[in-house]
Amino acid sequence: MNAQVTLPVASGKARRAAGLFLIGGILLFCTNGSAARPAEAAKPAEPAKPDAAATYVGSEACGACHDDIFKAFARNPHQVVEKVKARGWQGKACESCHGPGSKHAESVSPDDIINPAKLDAAKADRACLKCHLNQPSQANRIMSAHAKNDVSCVGCHTMHKDGPGGGEPGFAPRKPAAINKQCASCHSPVWAEFQRPHRHRLTENAMSCVDCHNPHGSFLPKLQKTASANEPTCLKCHGDKRGPFVFEHAPVRLEGCQTCHEPHGSANPRMLTRHEVRFQCLECHANVGAAAAQSGTLGGVPPAIHDLRSPRFRNCTICHMKVHGSQVNRALLR
Ligand code: HEC
Ligand code: HEC
Ligand code: HEC
Ligand code: HEC
Ligand code: HEC
Ligand code: HEC
Ligand code: HEC
Ligand code: HEC
Ligand code: HEC
Ligand code: HEC
Repeated sequence: MNAQVTLPVASGKARRAAGLFLIGGILLFCTNGSAARPAEAAKPAEPAKPDAAATYVGSEACGACHDDIFKAFARNPHQVVEKVKARGWQGKACESCHGPGSKHAESVSPDDIINPAKLDAAKADRACLKCHLNQPSQANRIMSAHAKNDVSCVGCHTMHKDGPGGGEPGFAPRKPAAINKQCASCHSPVWAEFQRPHRHRLTENAMSCVDCHNPHGSFLPKLQKTASANEPTCLKCHGDKRGPFVFEHAPVRLEGCQTCHEPHGSANPRMLTRHEVRFQCLECHANVGAAAAQSGTLGGVPPAIHDLRSPRFRNCTICHMKVHGSQVNRALLR
């Protein structure tokens, strides 16, 4: 499982900037425990292009030349920025992202206006996070492999394409089909794993990558989404594996589901990492069987019981049915 992604290689400078910004983000997170609503944190844009002369002209003025974008913006969720006074950008929402536009409105030169898509990733993220930082949504702060690898907000959110939840990856993909398409566009090796015989039904779009991942960041490795507290998202759907069990099976809790399962899909039944259940178990329980019989490590088990030459023992879970944990039996038999 190795993600190869197709991306323009960013400069070392951009990476350092992203790194610094990450530290800044963490500091901010530490000092600001309370979740701010979007736009409350907004201060009038500090122009990324050094231009003291430019002032705000208002969205209507932009609309005179960018008619299509201006009209479509009525359906953009950022319309609230345009309409609601308390957010501090009433009547000039365009410039909340593009910076003050007076100079550009005169010169019509692209050099006189900020285009977030042309900024380096750290700067582009900052343009968005002045409102979206510490939001009570999942897009709260920068701590993801995406930010670190120069995939900025606008790498996934296209501002002016289509409305919320559009079918194509557009403003903010919401439907599983749109999300999967977007993620797969960079993570094609992962998408290939979902073509294997035993897998979650992503190719049918019954589920999407964000059922298990938070593209914005997570406290768990690999951007794994959490269910409640910090338990893995798997338990949101597979609640019967949650426990707490009277008799835990140590690796389920301590090492996580992916010790035995390939979450993206597998050639093996039950998405196991091994093609036969016994090999799965013997990876850790190698002392089961003859050796164990001699050493007596399997407390009180008659040697005959774990005769691995007998086909009966090929499938350990025929007897050890509660392999994820049991409420009644120490040997996970029921
Ligand atoms: C008088 C007409 C006019 C007005 C008013 C105007 N623009 Fe433009 N804008 C243009 C033209 C023409 C271009 C295309 C320049 C090019 O591609 O060479 C452009 C390009 C842009 C770009 C793309 C820049 C890039 O780097 O690709 C952005 C962003 C933009 N305008 C935003 C705005 C905003 C925000 C406002 C209001 C503050 C605004 N414009 C007002 C004519 C205008
Ligand atoms: C929430 C931030 C945001 C707001 C608000 C916003 N834009 Fe943009 N705009 C962007 C981003 C990001 C891009 C880069 C291309 C993209 O992602 O769609 C962009 C691109 C553009 C472009 C370049 C053409 C293009 O499609 O690439 C123009 C012109 C433009 N915006 C005009 C406007 C106007 C006019 C308004 C107000 C009606 C506005 N923008 C409001 C973020 C914003
Ligand atoms: C001036 C403040 C401001 C800026 C700058 C801003 N946003 Fe937003 N954004 C908002 C507000 C307000 C909402 C509406 C959310 C709500 O109602 O809680 C929103 C909503 C969104 C949504 C959610 C849409 C949905 O379907 O619910 C996305 C995605 C988003 N913004 C992305 C961005 C990106 C990407 C940028 C940078 C290019 C950006 N925003 C810049 C204020 C801002
Ligand atoms: C790797 C792709 C990706 C990147 C990078 C990304 N987003 Fe998102 N974002 C998504 C997807 C997919 C959704 C829809 C998630 C869902 O429905 O659960 C989303 C949803 C959102 C929402 C809607 C509220 C929510 O949390 O569901 C906001 C706001 C948002 N993103 C802002 C941002 C900001 C700001 C950045 C940059 C710091 C950013 N996103 C970077 C993919 C991305
Ligand atoms: C624009 C390209 C791009 C898009 C779109 C994209 N990613 Fe990524 N993703 C990357 C890059 C670059 C990395 C970092 C390099 C790596 O780990 O392979 C990454 C890393 C990851 C990782 C590994 C994190 C880690 O800690 O190793 C996960 C998980 C991930 N992406 C999930 C997603 C999901 C889910 C989506 C869709 C919402 C998505 N990505 C969309 C480019 C992208
Ligand atoms: C059923 C839950 C689940 C779904 C659905 C899922 N993932 Fe994952 N993914 C995981 C888990 C768990 C890991 C961590 C595996 C590990 O640590 O060995 C992971 C790891 C990754 C990684 C980093 C390791 C690697 O394999 O390169 C990437 C990138 C990734 N996923 C992308 C995606 C994308 C893109 C999608 C949607 C096409 C997706 N995932 C759907 C659970 C899921
Ligand atoms: C959004 C809900 C959801 C999440 C999250 C989820 N699963 Fe599943 N899982 C399902 C459904 C539904 C099935 C039934 C199989 C199907 O879709 O055909 C399933 C089936 C399975 C199977 C059995 C496959 C078989 O061939 O019988 C395993 C093993 C599994 N999931 C493991 C995991 C692991 C590990 C995670 C976390 C990394 C996870 N699941 C996260 C919904 C989910
Ligand atoms: C020690 C290895 C191991 C670990 C760790 C593990 N599983 Fe399993 N899992 C198995 C085996 C073996 C099977 C097949 C059982 C059988 O043969 O009937 C299985 C079957 C499943 C199934 C399909 C059959 C059923 O019981 O519903 C699901 C779903 C599942 N596991 C989810 C999970 C989840 C979620 C986690 C993490 C909380 C997890 N597993 C951790 C070994 C493991
Ligand atoms: C990743 C390593 C690992 C794998 C794979 C694994 N186990 Fe275990 N298992 C353990 C550990 C660690 C313990 C706890 C041993 C202890 O407490 O002494 C354990 C305990 C057990 C116990 C005894 C419980 C007790 O407390 O005495 C049984 C029965 C068991 N495992 C069966 C299985 C079966 C059947 C499989 C295959 C489906 C399996 N295990 C796969 C690591 C593993
Ligand atoms: C025919 C039923 C059966 C099969 C098949 C089976 N076991 Fe067992 N296993 C048992 C019984 C019965 C015990 C003893 C339970 C007790 O001591 O109370 C046991 C005990 C164990 C223990 C130790 C539990 C303890 O209390 O110390 C481990 C580990 C174990 N089995 C692993 C395996 C593995 C790995 C396989 C597959 C190669 C397997 N078993 C196949 C019936 C079975």
